[in-house]
Amino acid sequence: MQNFIITGGNRLSGEIQLQGSKNSTLPIMAASVLVNGKCTLESCPALTDVYSAARILNGLGCKCRLSGNTAEIDSASVSRSEIPERLMGEMRSSIMFVGAVLGRLGECTFSIPGGCELGPRPIDMHLAAWSKMGAEISDCGGRICCRMPKGRAHGAKISLSFPSVGATENVILCAVLAEGETVINNAAREPEICDMCRFLRSCGAKIRGDGESRIVVEGVETLHGCEYRVMPDRIAGATYLAMTAAAGGEIILKNACIPESEPFISVLEQTGCCICCKDGRIYLRRGGRLKAIRDRIRTMPHPGFPTDAQAVLMAALATAEGTSVFEENIFDCRYRHTDALIKMGADIQVMGKAAVIRGVRRLHGADAEATDLRGGAAMVVAALSADGESRIGSIFHIDRGYEKFENIITSLGGSIRRE
Ligand code: EPZ
Repeated sequence: MQNFIITGGNRLSGEIQLQGSKNSTLPIMAASVLVNGKCTLESCPALTDVYSAARILNGLGCKCRLSGNTAEIDSASVSRSEIPERLMGEMRSSIMFVGAVLGRLGECTFSIPGGCELGPRPIDMHLAAWSKMGAEISDCGGRICCRMPKGRAHGAKISLSFPSVGATENVILCAVLAEGETVINNAAREPEICDMCRFLRSCGAKIRGDGESRIVVEGVETLHGCEYRVMPDRIAGATYLAMTAAAGGEIILKNACIPESEPFISVLEQTGCCICCKDGRIYLRRGGRLKAIRDRIRTMPHPGFPTDAQAVLMAALATAEGTSVFEENIFDCRYRHTDALIKMGADIQVMGKAAVIRGVRRLHGADAEATDLRGGAAMVVAALSADGESRIGSIFHIDRGYEKFENIITSLGGSIRRE
């Protein structure tokens, strides 16, 4: 297993081009199952989860070829409705293929998806929605079998009890080729859902209201291929901003998604960093010591503060002047990185949903294991600002979300190597 060896203390400076969004690419790759033709996706990040998605597509009988950041997918020949257990277990986003296969073929056999361990991650809302759209759901020898008895889903009114990103995407995927109209109330509003809808509209889907809490999908008979560029990754962007805020220095994110990053930037600005957003670029400079955030930072569905950026901001606030408080409202176990930060000298107390961070002057290097994707990234952020050397293990978690992570950090002047 590989480790990152990091020597902290260097200021970071430079310009970076953001990778395409992982959380857009994966549902868009799933959406391509619905298309009776060829799609070319540009700006797909070269990540292990994207390779898993390609394996699922090929296993379904589609033809998916990845080359650099381009994915060429031809789903004209999709023929199999079963997703092997091993592939389902590789990532959470494997569940997105179920909605698409169900929409295209009228049946799908699958098992519980894998992914980061952030607490219970049930799929009850996905199943309840498909059932309302006509699916019969049964247990087939420990696997889940969803079948549309009429061969095609029908439209329905779906009211989600929580604006789940995955459930919203999965209802849309099942609804695009369904008979009639589907209305989703209390839909999630995350920008990555809008990106998937833009892709589907480019293929001829009729979807409106994405980005709002009521989405309407009018089923169509067939979808055609298209060329599409995936949006930049706002969470990778937040990570590089938090990293520079923690280590000191200045950074320009060249192709940033500014309005989509606003919920994170408006909080980061309160640390005293100078941030300027213009012409698709985000510039950040940290001069003196960071200031703690006075108001409680509550993670919420978009446009609230993103749960995916909680850990990396916490790593930066570990050395801020004063006390900051987080409240994690999306996942039950999303503070698993705090033990590693404490080992590096941070003063953090977790009490249920809340985490209290009393800023210390300096962190020191330590050995730690990445616990999950964003938690692992937070450990790298902390290690880059710490005195001395750190070794971060289990970096396969980090590789699931950050393309060329160590190359980018090195280009900014950080000392990091993989071994
Ligand atoms: C997506 O996960 C993202 N993953 C996550 O990013 C992100 O943290 C999360 O949305 C929230 O923004 C991808 O897009 C691939 P949810 P998802 O369904 O869809 C509960 C990262 O680091 N829930 O919005 O799985 C659930 O348990 C990853 O890149 C149910 O109870 O998130 C959670 O508490 C990690 N029943 C809450 O809703 C359901 O049927 C939000 O989950 C579905 C969800």
